[in-house]
Amino acid sequence: MRMLGIETSCDETSAAVVEETGDAAKPWAVRSNIVASQVPIHREWGGVVPELASRQHIRDICGVVERSLDAAQTTWGDLGAIAVTQGPGLVGSLLVGVSFAKAAAAAARLPLVAVHHLAGHIESLVLQNGEMPLPAVVLVVSGGHTSLYLVDGPGRYEPLSRTRDDAAGEAYDKVAKLLGLGYPGGPVIDRLAKQGNDRAVALPTTRLTHADRNAPELRGDLDFSFSGLKTAVLRHVRAHDGPFSEQEIADVCASFQRIVVTVLIDRLFDAARRYQAKSVGIAGGVSANSRLRAELEDRGRRREIPTFLPSLSLSTDNAAMIAAAGLRRFREGITASLDLNADAALAL
Ligand code: KG4
Ligand code: ZN
Repeated sequence: MRMLGIETSCDETSAAVVEETGDAAKPWAVRSNIVASQVPIHREWGGVVPELASRQHIRDICGVVERSLDAAQTTWGDLGAIAVTQGPGLVGSLLVGVSFAKAAAAAARLPLVAVHHLAGHIESLVLQNGEMPLPAVVLVVSGGHTSLYLVDGPGRYEPLSRTRDDAAGEAYDKVAKLLGLGYPGGPVIDRLAKQGNDRAVALPTTRLTHADRNAPELRGDLDFSFSGLKTAVLRHVRAHDGPFSEQEIADVCASFQRIVVTVLIDRLFDAARRYQAKSVGIAGGVSANSRLRAELEDRGRRREIPTFLPSLSLSTDNAAMIAAAGLRRFREGITASLDLNADAALAL
């Protein structure tokens, strides 16, 4: 069966066709995955402007879906269902994808499947590499999220922790902005950090020991916090006399990145040990980070636990991961009705 996936939760308009393989170990294959990025539009404003994002989704959605069907050599009649991101995300952006998917499902008489954006990121690991040995602990780390999940059965995602304030990708973007490096910050900091000394600037790590009042069901000690780190970089920049040299900027990037990656990897492997995970994975836009990828593999080798990463094109927002998660749900017998609504704060 072929699934059309649609993703418009933030600033990428994406459509993809993913096909079942019949192989239980590697259940899905990507036939097409088209992403229209809005980065050049939002760069000018230093971050995503929700109103501009939803308007651009409206302009792009029809063409992106047509391109994804063409590239997959697929007609509407070849599809078995349509999967769409219901949330979380920017509500105006989500509404474009959800409205389009509902209209297409009604017109083509296809079942509709609602997908949680983070389930899509988690399933990107399976789409890329095949089924993970379970239980698995997965870190979803992007511009909007930094959360750990225990996957204790196929399609079952139990939240273990989350960030108390900024997401890691958001911290990258804010630090890049205050260093004058532009938007989005992750890729440029990643690149500059390679030339820097990662011990040059002393920056704090945060370890939380108590439960979050807003999420008492989570124990709290696996939670993340990045706003203090961002503020420490800000103080370092303000305390500096005159403009930074290129080397000094690279040193700040490397020092900042060392802390972020260490915190992410430490928490992930702490959780893996606590829940006796048989594998670990990292998904979401920040999983494109070169140091994070290298340290995941290195720590996994030392701990003798298999590690999973998406390819770079499946790490940032894309519809192929939504189609994959949609296929998982569809095979569990879960479909949505045509009164489906976008939910900006959808829980997993
Ligand atoms: O998953 P994603 O495309 O969108 C969200 O759902 O947020 O993630 C985007 C985030 C941005 O904050 C961007 O700066 C970050 O991922 N990012 C990176 C890298 N590439 C993208 N962060 C660190 N290193 C990278 N190489
Ligand atoms: Zn995302």
